[in-house]
Amino acid sequence: MAPALQSIPRAPGRLPLLGHVLSLSRDPLGFVKSLRRTGELVRVDLGTLPVVFATSARLAHAVMVTHGTSFEKGRLFDRMRPMVGDGLATAPSAVHRPHRRLMQPSFHHRRIAGYCETISEQAQQLVDGWEDGRRIAVEEVMGEFSVATLAATMFSAEFGGPAVTAVRRDVPIILKTMLLRAVSPKFLDRLPIPPNRRFDAAAARLRQVIDEVVTATRGSGADHDEQPDLLSTLLAARDADTGAALSDAEVRDELVTILFAGTETVGSTLSWAFHEIARSPATEARLLAEIDAVVGRRPVGHEDVPRLTFTRQVLDEVVRLHGVTLLMRRAVAPVRLNGVTIPAGTEVAFSLYAVHQDPALYPDPERFDPDRWLPERRAGQPREAFIPFGAGSRQCIGDAFAKAEMTITLATVLSRWRLRPVAGHATGEAMAAMPHPDHLPMVLEARAA
Ligand code: HEM
Repeated sequence: MAPALQSIPRAPGRLPLLGHVLSLSRDPLGFVKSLRRTGELVRVDLGTLPVVFATSARLAHAVMVTHGTSFEKGRLFDRMRPMVGDGLATAPSAVHRPHRRLMQPSFHHRRIAGYCETISEQAQQLVDGWEDGRRIAVEEVMGEFSVATLAATMFSAEFGGPAVTAVRRDVPIILKTMLLRAVSPKFLDRLPIPPNRRFDAAAARLRQVIDEVVTATRGSGADHDEQPDLLSTLLAARDADTGAALSDAEVRDELVTILFAGTETVGSTLSWAFHEIARSPATEARLLAEIDAVVGRRPVGHEDVPRLTFTRQVLDEVVRLHGVTLLMRRAVAPVRLNGVTIPAGTEVAFSLYAVHQDPALYPDPERFDPDRWLPERRAGQPREAFIPFGAGSRQCIGDAFAKAEMTITLATVLSRWRLRPVAGHATGEAMAAMPHPDHLPMVLEARAA
């Protein structure tokens, strides 16, 4: 054990051999929030593996941005590599840098405007099928919606049919097991038990069907400039300096990565949004008034997004309260954090969920208060206090896409429907990459025209 790590205070509750695994698995969200009571830099043991936990916004920023070049992705992401290869989220810096540069234009404002037409169509189709008084499981409906919508923006209508079907069936199966796999010992993956068989079959089908649609789209040479899909823009992408392009296998890995990174996150945030809105009548009234004034009953478009300012405040407050649970990095060079030199090879972790509930940054942090995001109340808040999409070179490439998708969906739904809570039902947080509602039944109520 490096002497430097011994100088970092340990989180309470450590057991021999298991370290903090029990506390972490019993109540992961409570555990990550509790760490700041021990210090800004805290040692947590995952079994016998020491992990240095940065508990403040200041140190999370230091890891992601100031010392970003001294870190690679680390353990959490290593375990995902068999599934997503060297897609952006897992790739080492040498692969990440050129791929990110090449892919960035596919997420440019102008491109997102095109994807928004598809998103708006998907949102309208969703609410067209609803019936007054029906009870829905919001977390399931929003989960399916986010997968279907991303698949529809990803593949052209011409070649994408089978891929959309496979994505809708297989991505939820894989997501269910992936986080568990990321924190479990490797040998468990190979046991011939039904969850492993389901996972392996879903993963193989998904990769195969995406390979097929990549080949078909590449071969067609079709011009998808009118309403471009994400796949066509990635196939056409060229590095501005070198002219390099992504190979078909690289495109497939990037698509699978995007499917994992961009579905559960959006589905969960939208579900929490409906939950929080229904619990806050004043918020709901202001939101409906804004949506009625800005869009009325017409389809919501990309140009509406910046005008829906209160909707944006509501979504910011939802991602603050229900953010990404845990991110990890591995130091590739010695790094000085909070006066301690962390040796190369050390695993470092931080929780956006916990940072966003730090009472030093957010008074009464557990209260849902969209007015925290009024410009006059934000003034003076450090930039690193709000990092729902991460920061630095590994910041979410889909942040603008996600914000547009969630704003359009919320506005489309609420222009026609209210979602009422079910009396007596208490919703809890279920652990995942972002904690999602464990069960969220709500009743649909048509709004008067
Ligand atoms: C509410 C929605 C979302 C949230 C909160 C979110 C959050 C994040 C965060 C925190 C990271 C950084 C991870 C790290 O530093 O280790 C990230 C990375 C990433 N996200 Fe998102 N994300 C969301 C939606 C999306 C969407 C819609 C897409 C794609 C369409 C997407 C694609 C990605 C990709 C590819 C990366 C890896 C980027 C890189 O390393 O260059 N995300 N996301």
